[in-house]
Amino acid sequence: MNILLTGGAGFIGSNFIHYMFSNHGHTIVNLDSLTYAGNLENLERISGDPRYHFIEGDINDRLLLNEVFQRYEIDTVINFAAESHVDRSIENPSVFLETNIMGTHTLLQTAKEYWQVDPLDRNCTTYKDNVRFLQVSTDEVYGDLEKYGHFTEETSLAPNSPYSASKASADLIARAYYETYHLPVIITRCSNNYGPYQFPEKLIPLLIHRIRNGQSLPIYGDGKQVRDWLYVEDHCAALDAVLSKGKSGEVYNIGGNNEKTNIDMAKLLLELMGEDEKLIEFVQDRLGHDRRYAIDNTKITEELGWSPAYTFEEGIRKTVQWYTDHEDWLDRMNSKEPAVQRM
Ligand SMILES: NC(=O)c1ccc[n+]([C@@H]2O[C@H](COP(=O)([O-])OP(=O)(O)OC[C@H]3O[C@@H](n4cnc5c(N)ncnc54)[C@H](O)[C@@H]3O)[C@@H](O)[C@H]2O)c1
Repeated sequence: MNILLTGGAGFIGSNFIHYMFSNHGHTIVNLDSLTYAGNLENLERISGDPRYHFIEGDINDRLLLNEVFQRYEIDTVINFAAESHVDRSIENPSVFLETNIMGTHTLLQTAKEYWQVDPLDRNCTTYKDNVRFLQVSTDEVYGDLEKYGHFTEETSLAPNSPYSASKASADLIARAYYETYHLPVIITRCSNNYGPYQFPEKLIPLLIHRIRNGQSLPIYGDGKQVRDWLYVEDHCAALDAVLSKGKSGEVYNIGGNNEKTNIDMAKLLLELMGEDEKLIEFVQDRLGHDRRYAIDNTKITEELGWSPAYTFEEGIRKTVQWYTDHEDWLDRMNSKEPAVQRM
């Protein structure tokens, strides 16, 4: 495969590149505009690999995309590139719409035109062999859950934040490209990831960083918001399974059956790092804060044979160890961009 992977300098994208190079021989072209969340340090280990190419650029840059598709004969797109932080989307929604919606559309349009067997026929819906477009989405597009129940692929989209609304819009545009033009598009919707290389404005690295420095742990509202946590390497393996076995036009939910409240996560990290619960500080809740997300992963486990390899206990211990071993990385990321909020 010749993969155009967007947003590969971010958290999940960089983990996915490492995962793919350890498991396959594909060529990967990483196109990333290096926003505050993009960090080439995450990829230093493989930067000299002949299968790897980095291009600094924006997914909205149509001319650049045309050039990249042609030069590298791209047959697979995996779109990780996004503005990904809910609090930032509440502060400034515009860039979320530009990158997450328009950027996804620019990628879809470029892929469609490059992959059409007869590019001169505007209505051509036959594409080169073995091409595919994987849109990496999130469970947040489904909105908020009550105490019980899970999101299935049939759950209606009901996003509540500008971030999740922009991701839901991108999902619908991607779906339209499949329905209208028969472009081989697949959408995945994953729950909250944790693991190495996550920008420390997100809950787990933020808490680890603050515990390490003896700082208070700001917890939104009553801390009872539930998230379904998945170790990032398990997400990577799920995406790999979708790439090789997933069906065009389908949506696959990805989740680890690991529901935890934010307050329990904070207490667990304090325990693992040998610190006291008195560091916990409740702060004013996030606007429109969704209460609970939980994924039903039956479809991907039954149809594609994927299931998480890591238990939550293994994943969280590895994660704490990684950030402890990479204190310099955490410090550098923290000094790079002030957090807009608390988690
Ligand atoms: N982190 C999670 O828990 C989670 C869960 C489910 C789905 N997702 C989705 O997975 C994807 C990756 O998430 P992440 O946590 O790694 O995000 P991230 O914020 O860590 O990384 C995003 C990357 O995209 C790049 N980028 C941003 N705008 C760009 C643009 N216009 N053109 C090119 N590159 C651009 C950034 O520089 C960065 O490297 C996102 O689409 C997100 O919605 C994330």
